[in-house]
Amino acid sequence: MTISGNAKVCGVIGNPVGHSLSPMMQNYFAEKLNLDFAYIPCNVPDEQVGEAIRGIYALGFQGLNVTVPHKQRVMPHLLEIDEAARCIGAVNTLVRMEGGYKGYNTDAEGLYRALKRQGIQVAGQDCLLIGAGGAAKAVAYMLMKHQAKSIAILNRSPEKARLLADQMNRQFGRNTIKAMALSDYQNLEAPSYLAIQTTSVGMHPHPGHAAIEDPTFYKKIHTAIDIIYTPSRTRFMELVKEAGGQAFNGLDMLIYQGIIAFELWNPNVSITDETVDEIRVMMKKRLEGKS
Ligand code: ATR
Repeated sequence: MTISGNAKVCGVIGNPVGHSLSPMMQNYFAEKLNLDFAYIPCNVPDEQVGEAIRGIYALGFQGLNVTVPHKQRVMPHLLEIDEAARCIGAVNTLVRMEGGYKGYNTDAEGLYRALKRQGIQVAGQDCLLIGAGGAAKAVAYMLMKHQAKSIAILNRSPEKARLLADQMNRQFGRNTIKAMALSDYQNLEAPSYLAIQTTSVGMHPHPGHAAIEDPTFYKKIHTAIDIIYTPSRTRFMELVKEAGGQAFNGLDMLIYQGIIAFELWNPNVSITDETVDEIRVMMKKRLEGKS
């Protein structure tokens, strides 16, 4: 469908934003659903985020995605922030309302939907979260919300793991999360884990590394997600598979966080599994430099 003068307009802000796969994905969803919708990339310098948000409101934008490094910076410029985003401390989606925007975080629920699509359960599982940075916060929130049985956070800086564990335990009113130093992995208590890798170790342009290299550690993991998607098969994923577990990269998390944003801007639409499979192929090709 061609874009009319009445098209709903959304976009993504980041700095830089040139690598973003979101324009390709969001415009593909609109095309598949025959919606009059356009989505554009906007590079916004750090000190102009407030101006950019006021500007897109004046221009009539329905919403935005927000990527690195603006996910916290946008927060003071919003009218409302939903509970998950407030708890995670980061906003990746803005939705227009009377007088401004409401902020959401679709990363956490995006990961949950990606797991669900693979038939992976969170409720009742012993979970392992590697890393305690910004991405780990969204993952910890998701695991708590969806009733993980236990969560061990392993992080190079144990005090950061402790801060995250304390915050989430307090927020949810139960002591599900235990913080540990990365080097203490031998003290993990459960027999087998669902593991989520959130550190930047092994990410392009430094592939071939994992935060923990010891192969015996990986025998404790039955299922793993590395939220990295470049490279598509990380050293962490290889180590999990070599030890007999199943491992997935973060591409579906990226796709599903985008789908949830698309649904927030376009209520009453839904993206089919077939469309997800198509966009996954297109994104893989783009990441491999083939399109
Ligand atoms: P993001 O927002 O992408 O999560 P971040 O907040 O900078 O990024 O967090 C990066 C995570 O990767 C942290 O958990 C960091 O560990 P520290 O808290 O100890 O810094 C982890 N990380 C980065 N480089 C690492 C390395 N070489 N070994 C182990 N962990 C590493």
